[in-house]
Amino acid sequence: MSNKPLSNKPLSNKPLSNKPLSNKPLSNKILLIMRNTYAWHREHIETLERMGLEIHLATGVKQAAADGRFASVIPVPEELEGESMAAFCADEARRLGITTAITFYDSDIAVTSRANQLLGHTWPRPQADAISRDKKLQRTFLTEHALPAPRFAGVTGVEAGLKAAEDFSYPFIVKPSALAASIGVSLVRDRDELERALTDVARLAEEWGGYFPSDGPEIALIEEFLPGKEVTLDGVVVSGEFHLVGVTNKMQMPGPYFEEDFYTLPFRTPEEEPELVAVAEGIVAGLGVEHCLFNAEFRQDAQGRYRVVEFATRMSGGQNYRNLREVHGIDAVRLYAKAVLAGDDAGRRAAVLDGEVRRAATPRAATCIKFAYRTGTLVRNNPGDAYHSPYFRSYIPASKPGDRLRRAPEGWYEIAGSLAVAAPYRGVEDVDRVERIAAELDERLDVVMVPPVAVPPAVRGAA
Ligand SMILES: Nc1ncnc2c1ncn2[C@@H]1O[C@H](COP(=O)(O)OP(=O)(O)O)[C@@H](O)[C@H]1O
Ligand SMILES: [Mg+2]
Repeated sequence: MSNKPLSNKPLSNKPLSNKPLSNKPLSNKILLIMRNTYAWHREHIETLERMGLEIHLATGVKQAAADGRFASVIPVPEELEGESMAAFCADEARRLGITTAITFYDSDIAVTSRANQLLGHTWPRPQADAISRDKKLQRTFLTEHALPAPRFAGVTGVEAGLKAAEDFSYPFIVKPSALAASIGVSLVRDRDELERALTDVARLAEEWGGYFPSDGPEIALIEEFLPGKEVTLDGVVVSGEFHLVGVTNKMQMPGPYFEEDFYTLPFRTPEEEPELVAVAEGIVAGLGVEHCLFNAEFRQDAQGRYRVVEFATRMSGGQNYRNLREVHGIDAVRLYAKAVLAGDDAGRRAAVLDGEVRRAATPRAATCIKFAYRTGTLVRNNPGDAYHSPYFRSYIPASKPGDRLRRAPEGWYEIAGSLAVAAPYRGVEDVDRVERIAAELDERLDVVMVPPVAVPPAVRGAA
């Protein structure tokens, strides 16, 4: 994707004076903070609309002003970051008579929590969001709370990485301490590969500038390799209590690069759910979060025990939300929105779960997200014939005609788009089936590429 998420400077942790919010009537206005992009969150926004909320959007996206879903659009000046951004959002909210802010975007979670604090709420935990944004802080947090994580070392650059590697045995993982979508994550088998991987991370740290927390000198992590099965868990925390939404199967890649693809539901081995939920509850308790969406990725170690790869106070991106809803009959975004609107009000908080459909006892469908990986120059990018399939649910384009798409390690996560499909669920074999359906429909997308051409040196010289 071409849009680079903006940065998050560390936030002030100043205590706040607290005006009681209680006896005011519940506002139907909400400030949605999505600085860089909200194209992946159409369904999330639709849920807010269905709840009858008047949505005011704070964003840097230029075309937003023409978007009828929003009651108003507040352009966010590019230079704002961290505390200044939070103060700006809180001021704009007050001006509009809005008491609550919400976000679905990774790099805005800490700012949104801080804005909510400035609006007088005591429930937000910007420090928990800051931990979510930094893998080194996550690793330290997990160790401190005796939660299962891979062994790791944070390193400041290539030199330090080569030194730290003496305590690890090959192969192991090298990754940026603050990026997403598996960008820059690799499995290294020897010293040469390690040096190359660390050099790549250092370059990514330069390129992605703001996405890395600016005060963290440790740009990379070295980690024990977890060879087993990989899953991702989503939940919602209401008044400090964790509620499972679902566990998604992820494609297992052997390395050296880890492209994301084939997210399927329901969980193939539901008997493992309690082990994962117990860890999620441990993280939530340790973070002390009150209201948030929650995601944790796990991978099994050589003994088959699940260890935390990463966690965050937000949910899995894109169509995972709709798939989780379709399969488990629970609407995470709706619960989260109800929770933040209830805020600190005890009575309202107690009522957040009232009238909500509980998680379905058995899965209602099998679903799959397939990323449309392509290489070359994108010419056309639409769902095409796939749209007419009964299995088709949605296609979100992630690139525009004219964009060049490459595979790892030249390009990371440069996908044409994301395809969501669903099929009936009767048994675990339907998870395999829905994966095959997704792969077939991917081929029927109207995604047209001009393939990359290898130009022979002689021709190049003649030109
Ligand atoms: N310690 C590890 N052992 C095995 N695989 C890993 C490890 N860390 C990361 N991976 C693989 O790399 C992917 C991306 O790593 P992750 O830490 O989740 O970064 P990102 O924030 O980019 O998603 C994971 O989904 C997993 O497949
Ligand atoms: Mg990840």
